Amino acid sequence: MSTARVHVLIPAAGRGTRYGGAVLKQYLPVCGKAVLSHAIRAFRFHPLINGIAVVLSADDQWFDNEVGKLATVVDTVTGGETRARSVRNGLQYITDKYPDAEWVLVHDAARPCLSAESLDRLLEQGLQCEDGAILAMPVGDTLKQAGEEQEITRTVDRRGLWAAQTPQLFRLDALSAAIDAAQQAGQELTDEASAMEFTGARPKLVMGSAANIKITHPSDLAIAEAWLKRAGLAN
Ligand code: CTP
Ligand code: MG
Repeated sequence: MSTARVHVLIPAAGRGTRYGGAVLKQYLPVCGKAVLSHAIRAFRFHPLINGIAVVLSADDQWFDNEVGKLATVVDTVTGGETRARSVRNGLQYITDKYPDAEWVLVHDAARPCLSAESLDRLLEQGLQCEDGAILAMPVGDTLKQAGEEQEITRTVDRRGLWAAQTPQLFRLDALSAAIDAAQQAGQELTDEASAMEFTGARPKLVMGSAANIKITHPSDLAIAEAWLKRAGLAN
């Protein structure tokens, strides 16, 4: 594998409005530790990774307590109102602190089940692609377009459709410039690849895993717990 300098950026400054509850979803315990701790663990000892930065909201009061010892092996950065702003702040931090950083892997704090195999596959294929690469899964379900009364107006051809996951791997400079350009144009961004696409780049789709779920709704937590147990990653 190449010797590229790769940094990890984990946006964890969200409010978890869809999940609800008193504890932010990134700090909920799953298999004995916080969801965010699992997200950090996935990168911790990888030989190609030179550093991990976690983006926290300005009023975060939980990180040190909930993440424990792992908190001391990462840098922390203050996030913003949207995911794109949080990521942009983190990219700036890495650019300023690590001038020789070349590539960045952006990974949701809310994805605790990333496997070493998926991460290796992304790095192996993605570091060959100037436009970067993301983990993703071909869509399995039949897709329906809904009308105004939630009635089916048509079936969408799912051939060629993939669901985007994270990590997403890009050249650091290119991603920073792409987010700036997309935001200046008022483009709504739900992932980093969409910023790159806005500039005309064509990032590669790398096969992910069904296990790499994002905790979005309360029912997702039990699924994550089951995958972690199966992978032998439960405490
Ligand atoms: N995120 C962030 N800064 C924001 C919004 C989101 O760093 N202003 C992070 C979240 O913490 C999460 C990741 O981006 O790790 C993916 O976002 P999502 O799953 O949508 O989390 P939330 O925005 O917290 O949840 P919701 O959309 O339900 O409010
Ligand atoms: Mg969100």
